[in-house]
Amino acid sequence: MTMLKAAKSIRENAYAPYSGFKVGAAVRASSGKVYSGCNVENAAYPQGVCAEAGAISAMVAAGETEIAEVLVVADVSGVVAPCGGCRQKLAEFASPEVPVIMCNMTGSEEVTTIGALLPLAFAKAHMETE
Ligand code: THU
Repeated sequence: MTMLKAAKSIRENAYAPYSGFKVGAAVRASSGKVYSGCNVENAAYPQGVCAEAGAISAMVAAGETEIAEVLVVADVSGVVAPCGGCRQKLAEFASPEVPVIMCNMTGSEEVTTIGALLPLAFAKAHMETE
């Protein structure tokens, strides 16, 4: 299944009764396997989880920690971009040159990179003292 197909398909299961904004995400890991996720909202709004976080969790639960490609899709007139928190979550497992494909439901696509979305990302190296 392509990343777009996987993300569109899992997006149908998004639980978004509060925003009404369903998002699907897919990450391709270094093994080539694709993991997907959808947003899951909560009556206590800040407890909601983004689609990208779900895809990352599925990947890590399967034993993988290296992202080679990211795709996000939602029903928007332009394309959907990962939120700031998700950029940080993706950067934990993706190097700056990893492509991020931002899509909508009618075929629009824009490609950027993790590094362009989150320049000067905070990372493990910043916590080293020597
Ligand atoms: N959302 C995502 O799932 N990913 C993003 O990168 C942008 C925002 C979700 C969170 C919330 O459930 C809804 O979209 C509206 O913000």
